[in-house]
Amino acid sequence: MSANRRFSQSSLDIYMKLGHSLVEGWLHPIDARIISALGEYQTKAGIKGSVGEIGVYKGRLFILLSLLSHEGEPLFAIDPFTLEAFEDDVVDASHDKVIGSINDFKTNLITHAGEINELQIFNCSSHMLKAETLLDSASQARLVSIDGNHSAKFVYSDLCLISEILDENGIIMIDDVFNPLYPDVSVGLYKYLYHSDDLKPFCIGQNKVYLCRQEALTKFRDVLSLDKNIVVKTKMEYFGVEVDIVDYYVNTYREVFYFLRINLSQVQGYKSFLLRMVHKSIEHAIRKSMTHLR
Ligand SMILES: C[S@@+](CC[C@H](N)C(=O)[O-])C[C@H]1O[C@@H](n2cnc3c(N)ncnc32)[C@H](O)[C@@H]1O
Repeated sequence: MSANRRFSQSSLDIYMKLGHSLVEGWLHPIDARIISALGEYQTKAGIKGSVGEIGVYKGRLFILLSLLSHEGEPLFAIDPFTLEAFEDDVVDASHDKVIGSINDFKTNLITHAGEINELQIFNCSSHMLKAETLLDSASQARLVSIDGNHSAKFVYSDLCLISEILDENGIIMIDDVFNPLYPDVSVGLYKYLYHSDDLKPFCIGQNKVYLCRQEALTKFRDVLSLDKNIVVKTKMEYFGVEVDIVDYYVNTYREVFYFLRINLSQVQGYKSFLLRMVHKSIEHAIRKSMTHLR
C-alpha cells in the first residue's frame, strides 16, 4: 500500500539534520519536523498526488518537499524570481530582500536532493496560473506550501487556486500567518476561511498554519500526536475546530545553539549589546593587567 520515495531515507535524514541550514531561506525546525511527519505518513498510507510550492525562493522548503515526494510524482515550483516580473500592485514591501534566483534554486535542489524529471518550474507570478494549468502538468495535489506574495489579495487567491487542485487527503501549509511583519497574510487566510467551508486548520507550527479537508482533520492530528519529536503544547479552538499548537524537543547541542541564535536574532540591537559586552570585558582585562604591572 505504501508508496516508494523518489530519494533515499538517508538524503532526507541528512537534509533534516544539517542540509536545510545550508540553504538560504525560511524553514523553522519545528515546521520541518511537522512537514516531514505529515509527508512520511502520506507515503506510508499510499496517498499520492503532486507536491509543490508557491514562492520557492532558493528552495529551502521545496527541497524538503522533493525529498518527501514519490517516484514518478509531479512537482511544481511557482516563483517569478525577478522584481521585473511583477506588476506594481503585486509587489509586497519585502521584495528587495526576498527575491531568489532560479539558478540558485536549481543548484540547491541538485545538491541536496537530485535531478527531478517530473519537476515543472512556473517562472511567473501565481496569479498568472489557473487550476487547469496546474492540473495539466501535475495531478491532484497532496502537499503544498503557500509562501509567495504576502499581501491579503495574493494569500486569498493562492488559497483558492491550491484548494481547487487539492486531493481529499491533501495538506496545505501557509507561511507567516502570525508574523507581525506580515499582518496581511492573516487577513487573506481569514477571508478564505470565513467564505469557504472547504478547508479547515488542524495545526499551528512555529511560523505556519496547516490546513486540510474537514474529513481528514482527525487523521492528520493523530499523526502529529504520535510523533516522538513533536510536542503538542496545547489544543485551541481556531475557526470553529480544535487545532494542535505544536512545539519541538531539542535533541542536540547544535539545535540548542540554533534556537538561541534564531530567538536572539528577533531581538533588535542584540548584536551591538553583545559587542558592548565584549568591549567591556576586554577593557576590564586590560585594566586588571595594568594594575598588576604597576
Ligand atoms: C519568503 S520567500 C519564500 C521562502 C521559501 N519558501 C523558502 O523555503 O525559503 C517568498 C518568495 O515568494 C516569491 N513570490 C512573491 N510574489 C509571488 C507571486 N505572486 N507568485 C509566486 N511567488 C511569489 C518571491 O519571489 C520569493 O522567492
